[in-house]
Amino acid sequence: KTTIKDIDLKGKRVLLRVDFNVPQDESGKIIDDNRIMEALATINYLSEHGAKIVACSHLGRPKGIDKKLTLKPVAERLAQLVKFPVHFAEDIIGTDAKAKVKALKEGEVLLLENIRFDEGEEKNDPKFAKELASFADIYINDAFGTAHRKHASTYGVATLLPNAVGFLMGKEVKVISSILTEAKHPFVAILGGAKIADKIPVVENLLKKVDTLIIVGGVAYTFTVASGGKVGKSMVDKNNIEFAKKMLAEAKANNVKIILPIDNIAAQEFKADAKFKKFKADEIPDDYIGMDIGPKTVKAIKKEIKDAATVIWCGSMGVYEFPKTAKGTKAAVKALAAVKGFTFVGGGDSAAAAIQLGYSKRINHVSTGGGASLEMLEGKILPGVDIITELGAKKTVAEK
Ligand code: 3PG
Repeated sequence: KTTIKDIDLKGKRVLLRVDFNVPQDESGKIIDDNRIMEALATINYLSEHGAKIVACSHLGRPKGIDKKLTLKPVAERLAQLVKFPVHFAEDIIGTDAKAKVKALKEGEVLLLENIRFDEGEEKNDPKFAKELASFADIYINDAFGTAHRKHASTYGVATLLPNAVGFLMGKEVKVISSILTEAKHPFVAILGGAKIADKIPVVENLLKKVDTLIIVGGVAYTFTVASGGKVGKSMVDKNNIEFAKKMLAEAKANNVKIILPIDNIAAQEFKADAKFKKFKADEIPDDYIGMDIGPKTVKAIKKEIKDAATVIWCGSMGVYEFPKTAKGTKAAVKALAAVKGFTFVGGGDSAAAAIQLGYSKRINHVSTGGGASLEMLEGKILPGVDIITELGAKKTVAEK
């Protein structure tokens, strides 16, 4: 397979897809620049080897041009982190971008405006992909977080240019693939988060791999109901109760230990300053909403992961945005950081918690992918990776 190191980059124009979809506050200030930091290895390498880098990314989910979602603050942040000039184009394939691509010097970066401002991006419009491809001699995809999207900048351009994956993409794919194929046992997976629909295929795939599956967060209430418990007004996905029953039966048949929450922190109102009370997780009163795991559940998780050889975790334990119900997630991150075996965090929220709480250095791999890491854990091949591995080997620059 072609890697970035197999390519002669000197003087070449490189279209680099990165995932700079970073969280921002109301004023547009970047709250967490982890995705920018993680892209630096590839950007610095390209610059050091004399490439002219035309970088592109999406930010948020704009419907057409939405200046609140401009990538300008990201270009400014990137400029603070690298030693070479970073330019910003006010459009994507318009006159400003065209002029700035032309003027780009070796070792410099030009970041295009939010690629989703053009509707051709998400439609994987061939015309749009062709315009983008005309900016470069080589295409490098380092946007692991967006590799599950079949868009013009993640897929279409790869069919038009010699291509390779960047260092971050290579690392993420390698780590998650090896978790799925050669994880050391005991292998424990912790699945939390809000949306059960996103986790269903992950549960199905992981039941074939793990020794223990810990189901927490919003996902757990449906499983608690499926095993006969009462969860009050907590978030239950009624359409998936039967699925949860089937999964519990399957786990039993496969000898997989399932751990559901033992206790729960609940309130009558869904708000940060509500009056919280502790209940047994399967005896939450009718007028209460479950919002976090309780201390007994934290203890059970700690005990289960302590001596595991592999622990993977996706999705928060409770309502992380409220300080009083962020305790379960915080305790879980801390426990995970203390595990001696291989540890992995993916799935967006949980990765953000690990980073915010300062534990990311003590976790073996904190993925930059939310949906992308979950889709890989489902066993899916991501389109943005697939097209590179399929074409990269055939269309190297040397052959061009
Ligand atoms: C993410 O944050 O998961 C990626 O950047 C993909 O964003 P999307 O879900 O809007 O496609």
